[in-house]
Amino acid sequence: MIVLVGFMGAGKSTIGRLLAEHMALPFTDVDELIEQRHGPIAAIFEQRGEAAFRRIEADTIDNCLAGPDGVLALGGGAVETPRVRQALTGHEVWWLRIGFDDALARVGGDPSRPVLATPGLRDRFEARQPLYAEVAAHVLDVGNGYRQTADTVRRLIAGRLG
Ligand code: S3P
Repeated sequence: MIVLVGFMGAGKSTIGRLLAEHMALPFTDVDELIEQRHGPIAAIFEQRGEAAFRRIEADTIDNCLAGPDGVLALGGGAVETPRVRQALTGHEVWWLRIGFDDALARVGGDPSRPVLATPGLRDRFEARQPLYAEVAAHVLDVGNGYRQTADTVRRLIAGRLG
């Protein structure tokens, strides 16, 4: 499975969709799948708490990784769950790396992303960086000075995958 990870706003869904289309593979957005099955993510956080969301998220990812093969976009916080990091072993994982300020410029204030409104967001961003690095075989900078369009990134990934 080709898996895209990275902080909120990195473009995982947009780039994943383009990449899948280009490679004629099925695309799955884990957040979208969770919302189809369990309702809005913001409501899950509000009514059941983040820990419940993380369990749902990890189960959904397990399900997706079981196949069929394709392109999978994970939510930005999925790597915080140890069993998700473990499950990613052996998959083609790409980290779409974005800087904190660039990420906030793209998605800051979005009420459908409840983690944006939690305290200590910058610390959380920092704490996630080594986790993305741990699971990813490849890193692409999608922010911080040289903004690449989703299409450029898509071509880069497709090219590297041969
Ligand atoms: C989250 C990121 C979101 C979504 C949820 C939690 C996070 O996904 O899974 O709101 O903890 O960073 P995106 O990265 O697609 O916004």
